Amino acid sequence: MDRCPLATLPTPLEPMDRLGAALGLDAGTLWVKRDDLTGLAGGGNKARKLEHLVAEALAQGCDTLVTAGAIQSNHVRMTAAAACRVGMRCVAVLNGDVSGASAAPEGNLVLDRLFGAELVLVGDVDSFVRDQRLAETCVALHAAGARPYEIPVGGASPVGTLGYVRAAAELSAQAPLGAVVYCAVGTGGTYAGLAVGLGSHDRVRGVAVGPVPELDARIDELVPAVATLAGVPFPSGQRRLDASQIGEGYGIPTPAGLEAIALAARWEGLVLDPVYTAKACAALVADCRAGRVPEGRPIVFLLSGGLRSIFAGRYAADVAGVGRTLDQRG
Ligand SMILES: Cc1ncc(COP(=O)(O)O)c(C=O)c1O
Repeated sequence: MDRCPLATLPTPLEPMDRLGAALGLDAGTLWVKRDDLTGLAGGGNKARKLEHLVAEALAQGCDTLVTAGAIQSNHVRMTAAAACRVGMRCVAVLNGDVSGASAAPEGNLVLDRLFGAELVLVGDVDSFVRDQRLAETCVALHAAGARPYEIPVGGASPVGTLGYVRAAAELSAQAPLGAVVYCAVGTGGTYAGLAVGLGSHDRVRGVAVGPVPELDARIDELVPAVATLAGVPFPSGQRRLDASQIGEGYGIPTPAGLEAIALAARWEGLVLDPVYTAKACAALVADCRAGRVPEGRPIVFLLSGGLRSIFAGRYAADVAGVGRTLDQRG
């Protein structure tokens, strides 16, 4: 597993006994894995994937990291920072509402610009068209004499996913035996790497945060590819993603997610983001309340980052609003 050291590792594993008690769990049951502290322009899960992706890009003699994401992509922000760390160019294809992107950038976009990423703004297209534009951008860069290294959305190639196979080993050395991990599922790389690294789908509760086309099929392809690359057996058990927290779609906050943001903030002083970690935590909260958490097993919540996106206007008001509501309730 070649890797280019970019992340601050190991990330801490911290107890969440106050939130655990509020959810009816015994002390020592609920933990948080602080992958929001991986470094690389503010932290998040993509730092682990980028360590392997950038190592491969350098080994192939590439000079430009090319990737794609939604307008407030954490992955693009971290890829742009990684490119600066190793002296490469970064070109990123961004889709979504790009109206304020040039005049008044917000959240992650501020940092994309700071790191000098060359942004290809493709407007409100679906992920299929965005992926096509990513491939076309690589072809155009190549024709212009650059040596592009294409990173799929979310860094979810088998090579990138190795980052979470390593993370599983790191976690196993920290967490109580047999812990079950709750994580947000965007492209599925984090889930797949954890399932492979922990050796069992039953050790990971993947929570979908948006209706990604063919997500199940993608994960089913990724898991054996990553296990083979890592030289470990395929994980046991069956993949089961929790799709109950998607709400109206990717990037659209849900009431349960906003409640999870409030709970994590007020019981533990932690910041969740409305796009990913709030929905994953909302699933954990719902499972605790419904008595669905595995009896006697420690639970680890993967805080996979996302902090920067809450400073984008459309999320900032929701997050601040949930805090105000709690204050008014006293
Ligand atoms: C903060 C955060 N958490 C979770 C995820 C989901 O990770 P994955 O794409 O590996 O499923 C992402 C993906 O962008 C993310 O930015």
